[in-house]
Amino acid sequence: MRILIVGNGGREHALLWKLRADAPAAEFFATRPNPGMLPGCTPVDLAPTDVEGLAGWADANGISLTVVGPEIPLARGIADTFRRRGLPLFGPMAAAARIESSKAFAKELMKRLEVPTAAHACFRSFAEAEGFIRETPAPLVVKASGLAAGKGAIVCSSTEEALDAARAMLESGEFGEAGAEVVVEEFMEGEELSIFGITDGRHVTLLLPSQDHKPIGEGDTGPNTGGMGAYAPVPLASPGLVDEARDRIFLPVLDALERAATPFRGLLYAGLMVTPEGPKVVEFNCRFGDPETQVVLPLMESPLLELMVAVARGGRIDDTGTHWSTRTALNTVLASEGYPGDYEKGHEIQIPPELTERDDLLLFHAGTRTEGDRLVTSGGRVLSVVGLGRNLEEARARSLEGVEAIDFEGKTFRSDIGFRAFARDEA
Ligand code: AMP
Ligand code: GLY
Repeated sequence: MRILIVGNGGREHALLWKLRADAPAAEFFATRPNPGMLPGCTPVDLAPTDVEGLAGWADANGISLTVVGPEIPLARGIADTFRRRGLPLFGPMAAAARIESSKAFAKELMKRLEVPTAAHACFRSFAEAEGFIRETPAPLVVKASGLAAGKGAIVCSSTEEALDAARAMLESGEFGEAGAEVVVEEFMEGEELSIFGITDGRHVTLLLPSQDHKPIGEGDTGPNTGGMGAYAPVPLASPGLVDEARDRIFLPVLDALERAATPFRGLLYAGLMVTPEGPKVVEFNCRFGDPETQVVLPLMESPLLELMVAVARGGRIDDTGTHWSTRTALNTVLASEGYPGDYEKGHEIQIPPELTERDDLLLFHAGTRTEGDRLVTSGGRVLSVVGLGRNLEEARARSLEGVEAIDFEGKTFRSDIGFRAFARDEA
């Protein structure tokens, strides 16, 4: 079997790692893989967004499964192109991927279906948004409707802040095309939870829930990033809560998309807020989350590959469930100083070799590249350091041991990943 992975960040490294474990004899390829992925795959020198180029390459090279990591190729119709050419690909077609690429679309869908989520309104002009923001008591969340790499949602504690955010999007064009339409929504109080569902459009297999940490600063302070760390399993995610998410969120949304002749086949990611009234949707994504994938897949004992192949071939999956390790995984992301704003690249990274030989620690690369025989930083999020343990405490200790042992100039991380679960333990 020949498998192509589209994308080259921490999530794609984790996908490669899991699929290689599922199918040791398969041959793997990846678009411009990072150095961590490289020993396990053959590089394909095409950009993840080069949809036509990738379809041509996959066809010519006998690829039997293509797995897409990032949202942009999906929003641009990579699944549509592959399907037209009869090439199996895991990921939704563009019409279904709108659930991520247009927050306005996702919010209207949820409103219509009465899926629990924050009350909202959509605007294309600042004048209209202004009236609404002045009438609605803060706190409010102002969001660019389009794709903004996880940075398009601004939580505003005052009316003035919300007006500034809406002005930046609708008048100053600071978020480009993504901010041409704006969603203003009610602020939801609670803890966040990420649930991934693998779906054939009708049936869904939910993976182990995880918890991301989006803000750059400890205690969840400062601007939002793509995600600074995650852990799984999450004590907050009781079986009852997961059932509720399946019945009130995943299944109604999948059913509506199927009825609209835009079935969602691939991975549907529900970003939830667990509120006193139950789980409510913060956002949907049309692909695996990063950095959550790096903790969810190492705990998955049953194969992922079979599910992906069935979905990619247009077949069905049965919801017989997946098997999970009893261990806990905790991922600390090492970022470049300045991220999510401007940061320097090219700093040499030192990784003690013994770190990569342990069974309680996994290192997934993201923004790294080689320069001669040196490994250097090349992105905002540089490495994921995943600790595995019998409980959260052990997983955190392993992850932080790895974090301490790795060195590069400007190394930035949160040492408090999992803080909410620890606080719950102490309460
Ligand atoms: P999004 O891009 O929609 O996922 O939002 C990014 C982050 O902003 C979320 O992960 C939350 O931490 C926060 N956020 C977004 N919407 C809300 C909301 N309605 N209430 C509270 N926090 C929110
Ligand atoms: N970790 C959040 C995301 O992948 O969108």
